[in-house]
Amino acid sequence: MNEILKNILSRRSIRKFKQEQIKDEELQSIIEAAKYAPSAMNQQSWHFTVVQNKEVLSKIVDSIKLAYKNLGEPKPENFNPFYDSPTLIIVTGDEKAIAPQNDGSLAIGNILLAAHSLGIGSCWIHILNFIFNRDEFKDLKRELGIPEGYVSVAAVALGYKDMEGKAAPRKEGTVNIIK
Ligand SMILES: Cc1cc2nc3c(=O)[nH]c(=O)nc-3n(C[C@H](O)[C@H](O)[C@H](O)COP(=O)(O)O)c2cc1C
Repeated sequence: MNEILKNILSRRSIRKFKQEQIKDEELQSIIEAAKYAPSAMNQQSWHFTVVQNKEVLSKIVDSIKLAYKNLGEPKPENFNPFYDSPTLIIVTGDEKAIAPQNDGSLAIGNILLAAHSLGIGSCWIHILNFIFNRDEFKDLKRELGIPEGYVSVAAVALGYKDMEGKAAPRKEGTVNIIK
């Protein structure tokens, strides 16, 4: 099996990270891979907000907790949907593009695989999508430099692994080949 296929099959979601920050060159390679994903009509409708500042990461978590509290679904005090990863990439997409969710998701796919190929763990994090347009997030989005009119695709937690993942069995009956 070639190295690319091996990388695809061996990637797993990582939910426990070392606190050591990933190297800038590694981050750049991961972002470069993201930007080379295919996109509808090559619109490259994505935007990547990379957060490596602990205070800013805490602020994002605090806003999520506040939003859930205001929704009447409070999270526990130690709640951290990003698993304390030292790097978080928030992927957003231009709402006016043809397919921002598809473009951004493919970019995330590249992020997950590029990270894995460099020995870096990653996990797709969905929670921002549920609260992205709420008031609790308005100012923060501006502070983070997320462009106006961009929708949330997902966030990705990144860092050196402090666990190994195991693949769940693949579902049967998901393929139909007609010759
Ligand atoms: C659309 C999507 C949303 C996901 N949301 C989360 C999430 O919010 N938190 C999380 O820990 N994992 C999340 N995941 C990761 C999945 O749980 C994971 O990919 C799946 O269980 C298969 O495990 P594997 O990635 O190790 O192969 C998400 C994955 C996708 C594709």
